[in-house]
Amino acid sequence: MKHTYIEDVGKHVGQEVTLRGWVHNKRSSGKIQFIIVRDGTGYIQGVTVKNAVSPEVFAAADSLTHESSIEVKGKIREDARAPSGYELDVTDLKVYQEVSKDDPFPITPKEHGIEFLMDHRHLWIRSTRQRAILKIRHEIIKAVRDFFDDNGFTLCDTPILTPAACEGTTTLFEVKYFDDDKAFLTQSGQLYNEATAAALGKVYTFGPTFRAEKSKTRRHLTEFWMVEPEVAYATVDDMMDLSEQLLSFIVHRVLEKRADELKTLDRDISKLEKISTPFPRISYDEAVQILQKSGSSEIQWGGDFGGTDETIISQQFDKPVMVHRYPTAIKAFYMEPDPARPEVALCVDVLAPEGYGEIIGGGQRATSLDYLIKQLDNHGLQRNVFEWYLDLRKFGSQPHAGFGMGVERAVTWICGLEHVRETIPFPRMLYRLTP
Ligand code: 4AD
Ligand code: MG
Repeated sequence: MKHTYIEDVGKHVGQEVTLRGWVHNKRSSGKIQFIIVRDGTGYIQGVTVKNAVSPEVFAAADSLTHESSIEVKGKIREDARAPSGYELDVTDLKVYQEVSKDDPFPITPKEHGIEFLMDHRHLWIRSTRQRAILKIRHEIIKAVRDFFDDNGFTLCDTPILTPAACEGTTTLFEVKYFDDDKAFLTQSGQLYNEATAAALGKVYTFGPTFRAEKSKTRRHLTEFWMVEPEVAYATVDDMMDLSEQLLSFIVHRVLEKRADELKTLDRDISKLEKISTPFPRISYDEAVQILQKSGSSEIQWGGDFGGTDETIISQQFDKPVMVHRYPTAIKAFYMEPDPARPEVALCVDVLAPEGYGEIIGGGQRATSLDYLIKQLDNHGLQRNVFEWYLDLRKFGSQPHAGFGMGVERAVTWICGLEHVRETIPFPRMLYRLTP
């Protein structure tokens, strides 16, 4: 049977509709039951008046419990005082399943500890706030796809089961791959992107990536989604242009389409409204100077930035800041050294404002076969599993560049959240594999 979604009730004012959803909230004034129904698309208050319905329907409304699943019929009425602008005058009610009063829905409006909420993540996602975050996540992913699809990129999916490391051997998840063989869950689709870019020019891959990160920070997941563009004949400067265009496109799409959800999250949108191109660009050297001047960092030239360092740097700017040319020694094996200064690499990290830290990492890829062979050795990587990758330097090697944006990091920033764990339906972290 056809039913109406709450987001569409405005098209049915004065008409009788059937809604299907869950009891979000309920209060009663004896002769009238007020039920807030949610169906994932919105919320509406249903008003059940004792004299207007059968005794069975009123009794059913009276005994409804939080999160019981229901079908409710009634007439849509415009109501300026209602948050959604509409109310439903209930004429009929059917209960699919009534949540037992003895075993009630565990998440109540009272404060719960984070571990309790994470243990009940499968139910917690029904809350207004979690719904808003997941809607924004969806909008960001859609914006990313639209951006690349409309700019001549071809989606080329890269494998999840891989024979080799891309981002260092310390964060690999190993899986048994038949008989005595082993495979690793991919850390990044980049190496394969480099191959598809040589076939299609401008490509992107968008999928889950894995890092066995032993770090328990508010920025780290062990399974996260990454979008990675790769462009043949592009430079690190091209990637800075592309990064700022992508980020500003995403932010403005969310501002335009998800204003209600941002409001639910109490996000200060004036901060997001400032996000427009161009973004500031500073070198690693300049970033080190900022940190040394700040007095709260021990950093010396050559060291990698920690979360706190990134926070300090990003707080100097009200837009994302692009930090380029990190020391070659602290970056992945595939980075192209700067020909003018080989001790730094032609790479870029984009740090989100308001202290959110790195959301994008990328740069130009080494083009020389001999250099890459040496780098594999320096990084303790087995050449045999990279032979196919080295082929790309034998058959039409060319300058090329790309980057990866972590979806959950971007969602954390845009939503203004404390922790990355709320940005994915079921987060995977060092101490969290359930639900
Ligand atoms: O800087 P990363 O490690 O870069 C790469 O993997 C490149 N191969 C990408 C490329 O050039 N194609 O990771 C890229 C982004 C980071 O900036 C961050 O947003 C996200 O992926 N990321 C994580 N997000 C959540 N949890 C983690 N443990 C993450 N590690 C990286
Ligand atoms: Mg990085």
